[in-house]
Amino acid sequence: MNDPTSTSSGSFSLATTLAAQAYTDPSVFDAEKDRIFYRSWQYIGPESWLGEGGDYLTGEVVNERIFVIRTTEGELKAFYNVCKHRAHGLLHGRGRVRRVICPNHGWSYSIDGQLHAAPGCERVPGFEPSKVALSSVRVETLKGLVFVNLDPQALSLGKSYPGLAKELEELVPELDRLEWCPPEVVASDLGGPLARSAELHTNWKVLLDNCVECYHCRIAHPAFADLVDLETYRIKDNGTFTTHVGNCVRPDNRSAYRFNESDTVQRIAFWHLWPNTVITLYPGVANMGVFKFTPTRHDLTRIHSDSFRRPGPMSDVERDRIRYIANILWPEDVAICESVWRGLHSRSYDGGLLMLNGALDAVGEDSVRLFHRMWARSMER
Ligand code: FES
Ligand SMILES: [Fe+2]
Repeated sequence: MNDPTSTSSGSFSLATTLAAQAYTDPSVFDAEKDRIFYRSWQYIGPESWLGEGGDYLTGEVVNERIFVIRTTEGELKAFYNVCKHRAHGLLHGRGRVRRVICPNHGWSYSIDGQLHAAPGCERVPGFEPSKVALSSVRVETLKGLVFVNLDPQALSLGKSYPGLAKELEELVPELDRLEWCPPEVVASDLGGPLARSAELHTNWKVLLDNCVECYHCRIAHPAFADLVDLETYRIKDNGTFTTHVGNCVRPDNRSAYRFNESDTVQRIAFWHLWPNTVITLYPGVANMGVFKFTPTRHDLTRIHSDSFRRPGPMSDVERDRIRYIANILWPEDVAICESVWRGLHSRSYDGGLLMLNGALDAVGEDSVRLFHRMWARSMER
C-alpha cells in the first residue's frame, strides 16, 4: 500500500493517494472495523428524541447494533442491541419503553440494562436474573447530537473533537433552536439524502475523499461554484476534525438557489469529524445537516442523514435549498463516487497523485492527505 506521505518539490508537493487496494480489498475493511470504527465516536441521532425516561433510539456502528436510552433518573445509557439469551435484537427504530423486552423468548431488561425477568426462570435451578446485564457502550452528546463509542478507553467526545462545540455555536445560527425535521414531512417527493438512510455501492473512503475536498467543486459542481466564491473557501485542520468555510456566498446566484441578504446564514460551512461524520451548513434560513457514512461491507456504504431546521412553515428559500441539495448537488457527488469506485477496480489504476499546495483551499487536496494520514495512522495501531 502506498505511503501517503508527500515529497516536496519546490513550491509544489507531490504525494500519492491511498492505493486502490485500500478501497477494494475486503480484508482492509475487516481491519478498519477494529482499528477505526470500534474506537471512534459514531453519530447515532438527535438527543431531542430522548426527552423522557424510557425514550430510546437505535443505531449502528458498522455491523454492530446499538441502542441509546434515557433512564428514569435522566441519564443517557447505551447498550449493544443484542439479547444476552440467544442474541436476538431487542429494540427497533425509536420509541419509549418501560422495560426492554426481547421479541424472541420474552426476556425483559430494566432500562438500565439489568435483566429483570426471564419467562420460566424460577424453574431453572441456579438462574439468577441479577447476574445478567446487557453489555454497555459509551454514550455522550455534543450540541444535541448523540454519539456512541465502543471503546471503553476512548477519550471523551469533547476531548476527541476539541473546539468543535464552540465552532458550531459560533458558526451555526440559532443552533439551540433548530429541531430535527422528519424527511417525509419536509420533502417526501425529493428522496436522495433526505431519506434518512440510503445505501451506495462504493467504499466509505471514496465518499469521504469527495466530502473533504473542494478541488472538484469548480468542475463537478458548477452551480455550487456560482453559490460560493471558491476563492474564499478555506479549510482548517483541527487534528481530528476539519472545518470548511466559505464566507463569501452569492444570494443572487443564478444556478443553485436564491436566498435573501437578510437571511440568517450568509456563509457555507462543513465539518468533517474523523472518521465518518460530516456536519453541513448552507446559506439561507437557519439549518444544519448531519451525515454519517457507515460501511456495511467494503463495497457498500450506508448514508445516514439528519436535517435540522427552525420550526414553523417552510419558506420558498428553504424549499429551494433542499431541492438544490437533493436534486443537483448530491446526485453530482453520487455520480462522482460511483465512477471513482469503478475506476479503482481498473487494471490500469493502483493509485494517483494528490494536488498539494499547502494552502488548504478549494484549489488543492491537502485535506485529502490529512484524511489519508489519519487513516494510515489508525491502521498502524
Ligand atoms: S433471544 Fe432474547 S429472550 Fe431469547
Ligand atoms: Fe462534492
